[in-house]
Order: sequence, then C-alpha cells, then structure tokens
Amino acid sequence: MAGGDRDLTGRRILLGVAGGIAAYKVVEVARRLTRLGASVHVAMTHSASRFVGSLTFETLTRNKVLTDVMELDAASEIVHVELGKRVDLIVIAPATANLIARLAHGLAEDPITVTALASPAPLLIIPAMDHHMWANAATQANVETLRERGAHILLPVRGELASGEVGWGRMQEPEAIVEAVCAQFGPGPLAGRKILVTAGGTREPIDPVRYIGNHSSGKMGLAVAQEAARRGADVTLLYGAISVPLSAGIKAEHTPTAADMAAAVQRIAKDCDALVMAAAVADYRPASIASQKIKKGTDLTLQLTSTTDILSSIAGLPLIKVGFAAETEQLLSAARDKLRRKQLDLIVANDVTAEGSGFGSNTNQVTILGRDGSMEELPLLTKTEVAARILDRVQELFDERS
Ligand code: CTP
Repeated sequence: MAGGDRDLTGRRILLGVAGGIAAYKVVEVARRLTRLGASVHVAMTHSASRFVGSLTFETLTRNKVLTDVMELDAASEIVHVELGKRVDLIVIAPATANLIARLAHGLAEDPITVTALASPAPLLIIPAMDHHMWANAATQANVETLRERGAHILLPVRGELASGEVGWGRMQEPEAIVEAVCAQFGPGPLAGRKILVTAGGTREPIDPVRYIGNHSSGKMGLAVAQEAARRGADVTLLYGAISVPLSAGIKAEHTPTAADMAAAVQRIAKDCDALVMAAAVADYRPASIASQKIKKGTDLTLQLTSTTDILSSIAGLPLIKVGFAAETEQLLSAARDKLRRKQLDLIVANDVTAEGSGFGSNTNQVTILGRDGSMEELPLLTKTEVAARILDRVQELFDERS
C-alpha cells in the first residue's frame, strides 16, 4: 500500500477544499486520511461545492462539513474558531491561486481562510491551477510569503491541466498528498535509512556532438526517489538523461555516462542501506571518442567496448540491491537470471513492449521477483504506485534484517 503502514489515529485534520477541478481528487484524500485513523473535518468554499457536494465529504469523513463562515455549533460557539483551535494540521487542497492570495494577505472571507486565520495549527498547502497562474509573479510571491511564515507547500507537478494544456500547476496525486500529511506528523518508515537511486539513460559519446543513448525517461527512478524521500529516507539520486524535471529537495548528481554512474555508485553505495538501480545503463560505449566532429564520408564502423556492469561491481557490498529488468521477451526467466547473476535482493521485471509499460509512460506493469524465490505480479499502476510497492518490499527486507 502506498504510504506503508502509517497510522493517523487521534490526529485531527482540517481539510480545506477550494474551487478547482482537482477537488474531485481530494475526495480520495479525505477517504484515505479517514482510513488511516484521522478525524477529518472538511471546510469548503462556495465554488468548491460546485465541483463536489459536501455530502460526499460528510459521508466519507462522518464529520459535518463547514460551508458557512457564520455557522454556530450546539453550544453557540463559532464553529470555525473552535475547529481552528482543535485541529493538529490544516491541509488545503486544491489550493487555488485565489485562495493562496487570500491566505497570504490574511483575508478571512470563506470557511477555509477564516478557520486558518483563527488557528495555530501548521499549514500544508497543495496548489493546483493553470500553469500561467502558477508562474505568475503574484502567485509565486504569495507562495513565498506563506512559506516564510512556516507553511509547507507540496509543489504542483507538470502535467495535463483542466484547460487541456500541459504545464506546471497540476495537483499532486492523492497518495503523494497523504504521504505529505503523514510526514507532517513525524518521521516516515524509512527515516534514518540512506537510499541511493539511479534514474534515466546514460549517453555514451561518439564525438563532441553525438552519442549512443536510449529511450529511458527517468520517470520510474524519479518516482522511487520521491517516494523514498516521502517515507523519510535520506535519498541520493544519480541521473543520466531524463525527460522529466527533478524534484526539489532531493540530493541529485548528474552522471551522464555509464562510467560516471559507475564511479558515483561505487563511491556512494558503501555508505548506503539500499540501492535501487532504475537507470538504463549502456552496455557498450565507443572504444574511443573522436576529439572533433566526425565528418560525413563513406560508411563508418564504430568499435564498441563493454561498460562496467555497475550492479555486479558492487555485488560484495552488504546493502539491499534492487535491479530492473526491462525486457522484450522471456521476461521472467531473463529477470531471474539477472537477479542471480548480479546478486540482487529484488528485481523489478517489466515487458517494455506491453501496453502502458513502455519508455516514457506514466504507468508500468511489473513483476517483483525476490532472491527468496518470491514473485509478486502487480497490475498496471502509476509509476508512483509501483515505486511505493518496491519500497514496501525494501522496508520488509530492512525489517527482516534488523
Ligand atoms: N545495469 C548495471 N550496469 C550496466 C547495465 C545495467 O548496473 N552496465 C543494471 C540496470 O540498471 C538494471 C539491471 O542492471 O537495474 C539490469 O539491466 P539490463 O540492461 O536489463 O541488464 P544487462 O545486464 O545489461 O543485460 P542485457 O542487456 O543482456 O539484457
């Protein structure tokens, strides 16, 4: 399960829902937080209730939803003031540009801002908006103001927006939001663990302008790094060529070639508790790199030489090692062979020709094979969910070893 075995029993959370299309995803956040034991109190703006009905939240959380600033409770107390005093955390999702502006300026004219203003509880803000609105200097200044006052911001990601355009501004997925909420309440299950993750494809230079590369996007490795960080691990990310942005807050080192990545892994892995090797490392590189651009002429033959097999080169280290096997045929037997040959604890096998599992896709259908002979076939999941499943297994191995 994404989020591991986090327990929010006894935690009181105010979930502020503002008016954006992402409000429908926050229904899932309310459900998950409630399932983890939290007492979730939803406050909605008028425009939020045009996207999702308050009854949906009320049914899931079993708590009355605050929709009216002027509401009094049975003891004639002002509901929002009392609620603000009692909650341990205020989570605002989706936080629209307008809501963020009101929060930053102390305006109290809707059930969310009026409660937040009256509350000493920490704020976790989950923005969601059009990418132009997110990039606007006014929004950025407002976010900065809130951050300076101690608010935590779960930054939006790049993706498809309500307008149909692609850009920064898309709200993080419910599982990421739940993890961020859990993180507010204490160390995650991987706190104190050092995890090294590799991502993306290596590029092996032919001459100053050309290289041999592959189609890896880096999405899977980045998802593992983000998920491990969310669970409290001290993460180092080594990345080759990637087509998605790095997350702020994760230590990252660019290792463009297989040799760069090998040297970095050998340097860092000895101090780590686990390595997740999601990078697509070239098996061959040009035997020599031309110092000048190679000119067009007759047919050209490139001589290739093997690169270091990074996982095999650290087989003697005691850390938990997770490899990937991206195959186009005989998936499981090839993966089992790699697991044994590279002395891994786990290998994540995926058929890159299967629908929804190719390079650059946001989803992946994998089977996780263990050194102990275990085989866990997962359904088609988002890469974030796959990352969560892999880390669940890594956590189990840590537990077994300690
Ligand atoms: N890997 C590595 N060093 C390399 C090549 C691959 O550490 N030089 C790692 C990958 O990051 C992955 C695992 O080994 O975790 C399997 O990679 P893959 O390319 O599938 O395996 P290869 O050993 O290269 O085998 P083949 O190309 O024959 O399938």
